Formats: sequence, C-alpha cells, structure tokens
Amino acid sequence: MGAIRIANIHDFDKIIALDHIAQADQSRVAFIQDAIAKGNCFIGQVDSKIIGYGVLEYSFYSYGFIAMLYIHPANRRQGYGEILMVHMEKACRTCKLFTSTNKSNKPMQALLEKLGFTLSGQIENLDPGDPELVYFKSPSLQSR
Ligand SMILES: CC(C)(COP(=O)(O)OP(=O)(O)OC[C@H]1O[C@@H](n2cnc3c(N)ncnc32)[C@H](O)[C@@H]1OP(=O)(O)O)[C@@H](O)C(=O)NCCC(=O)NCCS
Repeated sequence: MGAIRIANIHDFDKIIALDHIAQADQSRVAFIQDAIAKGNCFIGQVDSKIIGYGVLEYSFYSYGFIAMLYIHPANRRQGYGEILMVHMEKACRTCKLFTSTNKSNKPMQALLEKLGFTLSGQIENLDPGDPELVYFKSPSLQSR
C-alpha cells in the first residue's frame, strides 16, 4: 500500500466510486459522508489511487469499532485489507477494539482470524437469515 491517511471531503466522490454498494444504497453514502466529517474514515492509496477504505469509530459501548473495511474488487487478495486493518488497530485509542461481519462473509472472517481477533458473540435480527458475528481484539496485546 502506498499510503494510508484520514479521508477528507475531497475524497468523497472517489470513495463512492470504488464502493459498489454506495452506488446503489443511499444509507451507505450517508454513512461515508458522516465518517469523513468525523475524521473516522481511513483511505488506502496505491500510486495515488484510492483502492480501499476503512471506518474506525467509538460507537460500540465507547470502545473502538471498525464499522467498515472495503477494498475495491480489482485490488482484493493482495494484502491491502490486512494492511488497512492493522493501521486502524494501531490508530485505535481504546484498550478494546471490536468489529463485526455477517456470518456469510467468509473472507472477512478469515482476515479477522488471521489478525488474532476472537469471537465475542452473535447478533440476530439485523440481516434476515444472516447473523452478525462480533469480533474482539485488544490492540495493546498485539504482537506487531
Ligand atoms: C474482506 C475484504 C476487506 C478483504 O480484503 P483483501 O484486501 O482482499 O484481503 P487481504 O488480501 O489483505 O487478505 C488478508 C487475509 O484475509 C483472508 N482472506 C481475504 N480474502 C479472502 C478470501 N476471499 N477467501 C479466504 N480468505 C481470505 C486471508 O487469510 C488473507 O491472508 P492470506 O492472503 O495470507 O491468505 C474484501 O474482500 C472486501 O472488501 N470485501 C467486501 C467488503 C466487506 O465484506 N467488508 C467486510 C465487512 S465490513
């Protein structure tokens, strides 16, 4: 990854352009806008091009919570998701860091397990038939 930095409003259109869900879902657009406004959105760049983004907020019982990690499909399986995730772990200001993903999202689960996140529990009734798995890590215990 060339560089990771906090996104600003000038990055907004480029983030929307890379996230295919944002192109069809207004609530995702609002989420990205809010994350940028609060300084919670990190972007990953390769050759000055934004190839992915992540959102680290403190909305989960006041603890760090990675609410989003998204890598453009053309750039997946090249280690960028892992690099962005580790960057957000290091940026986390609380002693506990949480994130969550759908039970159907095997790539994200594999990434979280590789990085040493452990399961904290499961939330039903968000997406029908696809529970949300909550993962935990203590950034202060990371070996890196
Ligand atoms: C999940 C996601 C962020 C992974 O990003 P990525 O850049 O492709 O992941 P990386 O290349 O850094 O992979 C790191 C590790 O994650 C795991 N992994 C990632 N994608 C995987 C896949 N498709 N199948 C199995 N394991 C996978 C592997 O353990 C991998 O390590 P390895 O390369 O040594 O095997 C990406 O698939 C994505 O953007 N998906 C859509 C958005 C999403 O679902 N986000 C998560 C919920 S918010």
